[in-house]
Amino acid sequence: MRLGVLASGTGTILEALVAARLDIVVVVVDRPCRAIDVASAAGLAVAHVERRSFGPDFDRVAFSKQVAVALEQHATQLAAIAGFGTVLDPTFFELFGRPVLNTHPSLLPAFKGWHAVDEALAMGVKVTGCTVHIATAEVDAGPILAQEAVPVVPGDDAASLHERIKAVERRLYPETIARFARGELP
Ligand code: GRF
Repeated sequence: MRLGVLASGTGTILEALVAARLDIVVVVVDRPCRAIDVASAAGLAVAHVERRSFGPDFDRVAFSKQVAVALEQHATQLAAIAGFGTVLDPTFFELFGRPVLNTHPSLLPAFKGWHAVDEALAMGVKVTGCTVHIATAEVDAGPILAQEAVPVVPGDDAASLHERIKAVERRLYPETIARFARGELP
């Protein structure tokens, strides 16, 4: 399946998708970030759909349409969100019309949203983890495809805990995308 990846951050999950030799046809980024370097080093096409505003004037609908168009231009059949910093408007899912997967650093439905790791620490949970799910218009809420637990260790801060979770995501996400693309998951 022709895979489009959406990333905004350090791109270490993207690196794992590249290493797994998935058929990545485009990497969509919304801001300058290391994920661009990762994509370029791997010889992948990069679509820079720049998010110009983080304020109340941000036109989320127009932005989301541009993301769908960028994926469409590369005949993307499946999209994978890998740390994308912009919540997409429902318009995106309607326009793209194909499956979208996401990886999230918590055991959903616990700790939805951008601060999942900090909130897990603040709550004092002893076990957290990561979830690969089908992304829907509702944030971090679609059907769960795979999940794995990760222990919280005494002395953890957000960085150390997130890194332990991401080590699992880098294995679980490519594996789950490949299974999904082969039709082994619903
Ligand atoms: C991952 O933990 C992902 O679940 C979250 O953002 C992180 C991306 O990591 N949404 P990286 O930028 O690829 O290292």
